[in-house]
This record gives sequence, structure tokens and C-alpha cells, in this order.
Amino acid sequence: MPILKVKDLSVSRSGKLVIHGINLEVFKGEFIGLVGPNGSGKSTLLLAILGVLKAQQGTVSLYGHRPMSRNILGKIGWVSQAAAVMPKNVKITVRELIQLGTLTSRNMFFPRKAIHRQRVEDAIKMVGLEDVADNDIVHLSGGQRQRAVIGRALASNSQFILLDEPLVGIDRDSRNALLKLLDRLCHEEDKTILMVSHDLAAIRQTAHRMIYLEETIRFDGPTEEFPDLTTLAGLRGIEPVHGHTHEHTTPVNVDAPNDGEEEGEKEEE
Ligand SMILES: Nc1ncnc2c1ncn2[C@@H]1O[C@H](COP(=O)(O)OP(=O)(O)O)[C@@H](O)[C@H]1O
Ligand SMILES: [Mg+2]
Repeated sequence: MPILKVKDLSVSRSGKLVIHGINLEVFKGEFIGLVGPNGSGKSTLLLAILGVLKAQQGTVSLYGHRPMSRNILGKIGWVSQAAAVMPKNVKITVRELIQLGTLTSRNMFFPRKAIHRQRVEDAIKMVGLEDVADNDIVHLSGGQRQRAVIGRALASNSQFILLDEPLVGIDRDSRNALLKLLDRLCHEEDKTILMVSHDLAAIRQTAHRMIYLEETIRFDGPTEEFPDLTTLAGLRGIEPVHGHTHEHTTPVNVDAPNDGEEEGEKEEE
């Protein structure tokens, strides 16, 4: 059974149809890269999955429940790009931030149980921030901060982690460390990951499956089968501007100039 099932989803924002006809199934343990140009609806899709944005049409089901349902509280983790650019005036240590992940409405007033403490220490270790656990988050690098936010999702015991552009604004070493961490979470901790990135090269190194979104899903398949740039241009309906024809590529999704109906029916003028 898929942990996420999206059926015929359309979402509008400010009266404009942003994504439509989305059909998607995600299974436990998958690491999926979601790519597409700026403004193509990637964040919108994630927000609709989380239940922050309402579907205009279609359905989203997480673990068999509606988004934001009580039954899935704590199962879903969310890491946004903003994590790396947290406000500078927030005074909080790495350990405290990660500890926030163990807060639920039920244990709000008694969060200091041993089991929660253990989960916090495990999460700190998993994201490799032991050395800076007592440091203020403002003194961390962008990459470390991003890992701290992932640590918070882990402490909450999230099974399905959605990340929106977590690689933006972090240096190359941090990026590699982050991708390795996500890969390990997937393989060793059985987490499921859906990650938005426009760093195509980086995400192809890590994701097992790629989704190309531009208003609707134009490719969904194993990373090895992700189309090359020419085919991608075809998928996006981009015409060559320099006048060469793509003789060696199979045309994809090209509208036939005469679509059959008109054949033989052209009136003589
Ligand atoms: N808060 C908003 N109100 C109205 N339109 C929005 C809002 N946020 C995004 N959009 C529009 O929705 C479309 C998709 O945006 P978004 O999902 O953020 O794309 P991506 O994450 O792929 O860059 C864009 O055309 C954008 O202008
Ligand atoms: Mg976005």
C-alpha cells in the first residue's frame, strides 16, 4: 500500500490554476527527487500534500488518511529552504531545536521523559551535530542549520520527510554531507523522502526516482531513465531556436500539425 496517494489533483492559488491532473503514488523507503523550473508548482504540490493548500479537485491520501488528520500527526516531517536562513535573533541551541521535534499536543507539558531525551540524542548523532549540540543555532553554517532542522524531523520520529530546496545557500561540502545523510536515512532508517531541488546534478546522484513537474507531471520514473536535455525540451514544448532539427531524438509529446480530423476535409478556396 502506498504511503502517499495523489489522485487527479488540481490546486489554484489566487484564482490561477497552478497544478493540475497530478497522479502520484509514493511507497515506503523511496527517495524521490522532484524537479522543474521556477514557478512550476513544486512547492504548491508539497503544500497540497501537507494539507496547507486545499485541492480544487482530486484527493490526497497519506497513510490512508486525509492530510492534517490526527492519525498521521508526527509521521510527516517538513524541511523548508527557510530552515537555512532562520532569523538571527532566535536564541536557541541545536539540542533545544531538535527537542522541539518531540513536542506534541499531548506531551506539551511533560516533554522531558527519558524516551524523548534518548530520541533527541539519537537525532543529534544521526545528523552529525554532536560537537555543536550546545551551540546557538545562529553560530552554525547554513548546512549545519539545515541538518539541525532535519534532526528535529527525526526526533519527531517522522516516517515521511518532505524537503523543499534544502540545498539552497549551502556550500559544496555541506551539500554532500546532507545528501549522504538523506541517503542513509532512506537505506538504514527506512525513511521515505520527497525532495524538491533545482540542483539537477546533485539530486540525480541521490534520488532513486525522479519526477519532473511543470504544471503537471511530465516525467515520473527511475533516475536512470530521466530524459536528457533535448528530450526534456520536447517534454516542455520548447522549440529549437537555432533552426536545427532533432533528427536523432524521438519526438515526445509533439502535437501533430494536422490532427486527422481535418484530413481530406480541407475546402478548396
Ligand atoms: N501565495 C501565492 N499566491 C498566488 N500565487 C502563488 C503564490 N505562491 C506561488 N504562486 C504562483 O504559483 C505558481 C507556482 O509556484 P510554486 O509552487 O512556488 O513554484 P515552484 O516551487 O516550482 O517554484 C507560480 O506561478 C507562482 O507565481
Ligand atoms: Mg518552490
